[in-house]
Amino acid sequence: MSLVYMPPSIRRFEPLHMVFSTWVDHLPFGYDLVAALRPKMLVELGTHKGLSYFTFCQSMKENEIDGLCYAIDTFEGDEHTDKYDESVFNSVNGHNRQHYHGFSYLMRMFFEDALKHFNEDSVDLLHIDGFHTYEAVSADFANWYPKVKPGGIILFHDVQARLQDFGAWKFWDEIRGQHETFTFNHGFGLGVLRKPGGDRSQDPDLLKLMFENQTEQSAAALRAFYVHASKHLENNRKIKRLGQGANKPVDAAS
Ligand SMILES: C[S@@+](CC[C@H](N)C(=O)[O-])C[C@H]1O[C@@H](n2cnc3c(N)ncnc32)[C@H](O)[C@@H]1O
Repeated sequence: MSLVYMPPSIRRFEPLHMVFSTWVDHLPFGYDLVAALRPKMLVELGTHKGLSYFTFCQSMKENEIDGLCYAIDTFEGDEHTDKYDESVFNSVNGHNRQHYHGFSYLMRMFFEDALKHFNEDSVDLLHIDGFHTYEAVSADFANWYPKVKPGGIILFHDVQARLQDFGAWKFWDEIRGQHETFTFNHGFGLGVLRKPGGDRSQDPDLLKLMFENQTEQSAAALRAFYVHASKHLENNRKIKRLGQGANKPVDAAS
């Protein structure tokens, strides 16, 4: 990496909404990508408890980005998450209202039914994290690709997860060579795809690092940076938890 990369997640990101999810390894990148792109329209397919989605929303708010966010999910679960109960939606809805009222909207429906609410070439950042079979991921991509702006970004979660009948990895392996892409291999893997076109003259550093003048060395450095950034975040959270434990009154310990 020839330019000095000092993204906002390093300076000030403390996740407001921590829940269990395999997305945990990508929080600093998710936060920085939103800060860099400054999306006018962000859409997530598959929100569940909201770890990825609220990372994006937190970045929108803290970086004073004037845009709209939509989280699309039945909030009922699928065969990979298992069916879950209303408490999940209630908790996501409550957090959304409390922190992101006015720019973030939950669309409780099937992805296919939400399509009609979005114009072609309108979405700056699309996150595909729904059902993870090969067929489901390829259908989500085919259905939603036209909605993404030229030069816009599509994220694919789980491109390294080779468990059960997960097939995002297979789909990613097929398409990554046919598009401008960047792959994070850590955690369950995150694929970043850029749609052709758009004005690239003002590209932020993060996009330059992923898509322009890339060498094997610079790509490896960026990957290593985000492995360390997510470990750093996790360590800070552990230290904070320990600190909170130490401050507990003695009679509260049992
Ligand atoms: C892997 S989870 C999302 C994880 C989340 N992004 C995170 O950060 O933890 C997948 C979600 O997609 C939803 N889902 C799967 N297929 C769907 C479809 N066709 N329409 C609407 N929701 C769907 C499920 O209800 C589930 O909550």
